[in-house]
Amino acid sequence: MKKYILGIDIGTSGTKTILVDDEGRVAAAKTVEYPLETPKPGWTQQNPADWWQAAAESIRAVLEKSKVPGDQIAGVGFSGQMHGMVALDEVGEVVRPAILWNDQRTERQCEEITETAGGLSGLLSYTNNRMLTGFTGGKILWMKEEEPENFARTKVILNPKDYVRYKLTGVVATEVSDASGTGLFDVKNRCFSDELIAKLGLARSLFPKCYESYEIVGQVTSEAAKLTGLPAGLPVTAGGGDAVIQTMGSGLVHQGVLGVVIGTSGVVAMGLDGYKENANGELQLFCSNAKHLWHAIGVTLAAGGSYRWYRDALCAAEKEEAARTGRDVYDILGEAAEKVAPGCGGLLFLPYLSGERCPHFDSDARGVFYGLGLEHGKGAMSRAVMEGVTFSLRDVWEKIRAMDETIRPEKVVLSGGGALSPLWRQIVADVFHMPVVTVSGSGEGGAYGAALVAGVGLGIWKDLIEATSVLREETRTEPIPENEEVYDRVYALYDKIYLALKDSFKDLSQLR
Ligand code: XUL
Repeated sequence: MKKYILGIDIGTSGTKTILVDDEGRVAAAKTVEYPLETPKPGWTQQNPADWWQAAAESIRAVLEKSKVPGDQIAGVGFSGQMHGMVALDEVGEVVRPAILWNDQRTERQCEEITETAGGLSGLLSYTNNRMLTGFTGGKILWMKEEEPENFARTKVILNPKDYVRYKLTGVVATEVSDASGTGLFDVKNRCFSDELIAKLGLARSLFPKCYESYEIVGQVTSEAAKLTGLPAGLPVTAGGGDAVIQTMGSGLVHQGVLGVVIGTSGVVAMGLDGYKENANGELQLFCSNAKHLWHAIGVTLAAGGSYRWYRDALCAAEKEEAARTGRDVYDILGEAAEKVAPGCGGLLFLPYLSGERCPHFDSDARGVFYGLGLEHGKGAMSRAVMEGVTFSLRDVWEKIRAMDETIRPEKVVLSGGGALSPLWRQIVADVFHMPVVTVSGSGEGGAYGAALVAGVGLGIWKDLIEATSVLREETRTEPIPENEEVYDRVYALYDKIYLALKDSFKDLSQLR
């Protein structure tokens, strides 16, 4: 009898649920969106109840659409936006809105943590990672300092997908890849750093039991069964943080495979066969979804997020046209962008709309159109946004490359919304000087990797290598030599612009 696995991705713009069969085919998919609160510039929050509601609604929709009976579903796997802080009280109620991965309020707390850990090298010796403003650790201290009543009520801290898993199973738990992104995790030994947590004066009980991503954590409760339509007792696996599990799910199960995601954030990731030191903490070195695997990651905060901002802020006419004609607004924007030559006649875009994380740790950085002239129209601006995001991804790749020059990937496996655009695929191939491929499932976001990893824990595949053998190459884009040359010149300039503006970004932050 054919078996199916449910993959659920708790994203930033919405939750996507898919049902995948034991040959890796997607039987049904449903996304339910929710809002993002920005109560102050640089702050981002969401309501965990929205995630749970979206998960339940999308599960019901997928079961209805696919008509797959409950007894053919082997179990559930999760992916989720990383680093978000969900604080629960002693009866499991949410204490305050979750503070998200792209929130920049914790700069001071991150400095405090680094100091308490004995400076950057001390911190790296505990966690192999810097305490970045997006990470969970700084948020916990922020709540302790700024909202002492909320902190006093908090009994446990979860990441976003862990909260939804808790609602589905009643079990409070986390797993190694998301726990890596708390900044309080001993990534080498795949467990929380008790020593660092104690040094920071936090109770160890704030952090739940930690599983490997493929392990079964609990079963669907009868209450959740009523809400979702899933059979009560269905096994639910731990899952993974999206930056890890999404790229892993596009084939990063061997050292040297390079994955790039253009989602709301942009991720460049490389699979590692063993633990590696994170030299001066420029990258994120996280546990991956099997015991012997680690992941080197760098994140640019606003990738697809920049393009979506551009669409919403500047492209009302194209949105109207899309509504009128039934076309996708991104196709309309892409068509105009394709008519513009690489380099956009000297128009550049810096995608630091939410501040930046890698390679610049700079919560004050902001977005820039640079070089605008009377000759530039919408096509050039659209293309400049795609190119600027890709240069930022290349910046991250240069850091990963520098970690070990002997590891030479042959191609980029691209996923996320940006991978749907042939033009964006070409730009990535030209800027990275490598063929770009998309594989089956890469349009499904983290939900697909979640299903593959869960399939291992549920006994459908023996390991991740067997699970990812279901992946098929769907598109392949070769770099175009003349474009590569142009982009190398523009990229050199791109990097100079940030350095020239760095101090002014600080001054600018005083005006907000
Ligand atoms: C990863 C990260 C982002 C979020 C977005 O470190 O911050 O990729 O997980 O979903």
